[in-house]
Amino acid sequence: MSTLRGIRPALLEDWLRVRYFDARIDISSSGVVPYRLSEICSLTGLALEELGHLAFRDSPSLGQERLRQALVDRFAPRSGHAPLVANGSTEAILLAVSALVSAGDEVVVTSATYQSLSSLAESAGAKLIWWELDPGSSTPDLDQLRSLVGPRTRAVIVNFPHNPSGITLTDEEYRELIAIVDNHGAYLLWDAAFGELAYDADPLPDPSTRMERCVTFGTLSKAYGLPGLRVGWCIAPDQLLTEMVRIRDYVTLNTSPLLEEIAARVVENGDAVLRPRFEQARDNRAAVARWLEDNADVVAGFAPHGGVTAFPRFVGVTDTRPLCEFLADTEGVLTVPGDCFGHAERIRLGFGGRDDELRAGLAVLADTARQWGAR
Ligand SMILES: Cc1ncc(COP(=O)(O)O)c(C=O)c1O
Repeated sequence: MSTLRGIRPALLEDWLRVRYFDARIDISSSGVVPYRLSEICSLTGLALEELGHLAFRDSPSLGQERLRQALVDRFAPRSGHAPLVANGSTEAILLAVSALVSAGDEVVVTSATYQSLSSLAESAGAKLIWWELDPGSSTPDLDQLRSLVGPRTRAVIVNFPHNPSGITLTDEEYRELIAIVDNHGAYLLWDAAFGELAYDADPLPDPSTRMERCVTFGTLSKAYGLPGLRVGWCIAPDQLLTEMVRIRDYVTLNTSPLLEEIAARVVENGDAVLRPRFEQARDNRAAVARWLEDNADVVAGFAPHGGVTAFPRFVGVTDTRPLCEFLADTEGVLTVPGDCFGHAERIRLGFGGRDDELRAGLAVLADTARQWGAR
């Protein structure tokens, strides 16, 4: 593992950390409405007194067994791979990239991308090769991917449904992507942070049921409404997990047993926790689709088939950062400037939150875009 000294600043985090806590209306987030502990207790049957017996011992390096079993049962029942429980999928991504990628490797990664999926590999000395996803189209270009993957490719790193664009894969495209990566002996790093937020089709299965060299990332931060719990995971081949634990021994050692205990109940009762937030996200998506239609004179984009982010463009605005700053500082409406994802002409919107907040935020956004476009 190379040290992370000199790694690029994480632009999205830099933007959010100074604005997130003051926003009046938040339509920036890639999550859903966060649950309260009391809600989790009633949805999962967890009684707080049960936690009173918990001893704050160290957890096993790969995570608490009950939670690991629940992860396999829910996310990868037919996989020969095993989970590592992590402090958010952020930690799992760091460990997997550190274990897999060395200086000089070629790594193919989507552009735009959630930044840790690219900058960690770059910091390890890899040559990044960008698979450009056109944020104006809901379809990924697999021919382009085919032309980028070759014998020197160590890993292909993707996230579908995609943050920020909302681009998703059909079942056929998913199979094709796996075949392209597998045929070249590369690893597939498959970030399924939004995997269960699929509106028009079933969620795509864990790729480890179809190929050996793959690592899947998951998290309770997004669809499950628990970003502050800081529980994520990866599902990976055994020999890679051993390497990841070797690195983890110098980073976090393990996850908190308290968080793992809560997470185990959540995953065991996954449908009950997911359903209310999924339904809200699905209804909010319809509101975004209507908003795009009603404001087609100032915004251009599509309502995604998966995930909770959209990435529209604003007619006549080439750099949305001043617009986003104005929205945040003057109107109290938090969005994300597209330059955090390499597309200055776009804005990332999160539609997983409260519906009244979303509607109010979108109305301010359209009015402001109209004024700015006319300037
Ligand atoms: C695609 C993607 N992967 C991973 C993460 C990290 O999530 P966490 O560390 O909270 O599990 C995020 C957070 O925004 C994300 O958008």
